[in-house]
Amino acid sequence: MSNAAVSGPLNRVFSIDDMRERARRRLPGFIFDYLDGGADDEYTRAQNAQSFAALSLIQRVLVDVAQVDTGTTLLGMPTSAPFILSSTGASRFYHSEGELAAARAAAQAGVIYGTTSSAMFSLEEVAGVGEGPRFFQVYVFKDRSITGEYVQRCREAGYGAMFLTVDCATAGNRERDLRNRLSIPPKATPGIIWQLLKRPAWTLDYLTNPGWRFPNVEGYVDDSTRDDFGSVAEWFAEQLDKSYTWDDAAALCEAWGGQFVIKGITSVADARLAAEIGATGIVVSNHGGRQLDHAPVTLEVLPEIVDAVGDRLEVLADSGYRRGTDIIKALALGAKGVLIGKAYLYGLGAGGEAGVRRVIEILTGELKRNMTLMGLTDIDEITSDSVRWRDPRFVR
Ligand SMILES: Cc1cc2nc3c(=O)[nH]c(=O)nc-3n(C[C@H](O)[C@H](O)[C@H](O)COP(=O)(O)O)c2cc1C
Repeated sequence: MSNAAVSGPLNRVFSIDDMRERARRRLPGFIFDYLDGGADDEYTRAQNAQSFAALSLIQRVLVDVAQVDTGTTLLGMPTSAPFILSSTGASRFYHSEGELAAARAAAQAGVIYGTTSSAMFSLEEVAGVGEGPRFFQVYVFKDRSITGEYVQRCREAGYGAMFLTVDCATAGNRERDLRNRLSIPPKATPGIIWQLLKRPAWTLDYLTNPGWRFPNVEGYVDDSTRDDFGSVAEWFAEQLDKSYTWDDAAALCEAWGGQFVIKGITSVADARLAAEIGATGIVVSNHGGRQLDHAPVTLEVLPEIVDAVGDRLEVLADSGYRRGTDIIKALALGAKGVLIGKAYLYGLGAGGEAGVRRVIEILTGELKRNMTLMGLTDIDEITSDSVRWRDPRFVR
């Protein structure tokens, strides 16, 4: 839709930070804050970005790097790069084509895309964009019958993996959203109208397309109570089943019977439990700093988690990954791959499908360039020898 209009300027976007700035300029403030914000003091959100400075990259020279391959296999799915576009829900907040735009960009680049219970297009509509490696991420609602349905529907739609997100037993305290009184649809308060007027491209896209819906949960959550909560995230979390435990996760894992990933692990104890219930993967994640503030950053806990379960399941990581070098650092500490959330949503917010494509291009390009500079020709060559902890005197 708006892709042609933005393709020129997007070529002048050189980094994820540049893309974030483009998104900030196109999105109304209350939408940008929902995308960008973290919980409480946003300490973990900030630490996610800063933590990568704690590792130096080791450069090997005079290696034949004429051919460098960023491709690998994650969760049994071939991918052109070791990063996945993570499940992020409500993607029409950023662009009317939402999840479809992201899924198309991922399929075209041959990277894995994840959609979610809280998506604004159904899981069948996302699968309908065409062939491509992808997963479906489940939230468990009070009406648990929906979970069994997801298993069936995901099988029929050809999803390669099921993810269960476990770090959202209640909503993170996102104060930016509370201050903005984020609601669906946005309420016509003077403040909101002013923000909409300042962002005409987004507002036109919003007003000329069908209203927002959550088709994967329709009929299963109580829509009528949405206005009773301080924010959309709070309302959504209230619909979730807080009594869900490892036994229930084990039952879902068995019912699905394929690649099953627990997302939102930060402790060795939980990583071990995931392995015990038969999960084939975990995502070491603090949810991009949006849930428990002061949760660990992933580089901090990856080595001990990989040490404990790395031989039994695939360890993936997310939260704060913005550069090819960040991805290399996680892989060097034993992660098989990395998920990105905000990074590709900035692209979606800045320019729809073309914006997501540009984000994938930037990250893949950075990965390839930095592997070349490090004397690495293949993802499997990234090992613990590729990094060292930086002397704290030089960390800034
Ligand atoms: C706007 C937004 C919405 C999200 N929604 C979901 C979701 O529906 N399900 C889920 O498992 N994770 C969700 N996440 C978390 C991401 O999947 C991922 O763990 C996180 O964004 C990674 O951190 P990063 O944003 O710093 O890359 C969301 C993240 C963002 C930024």
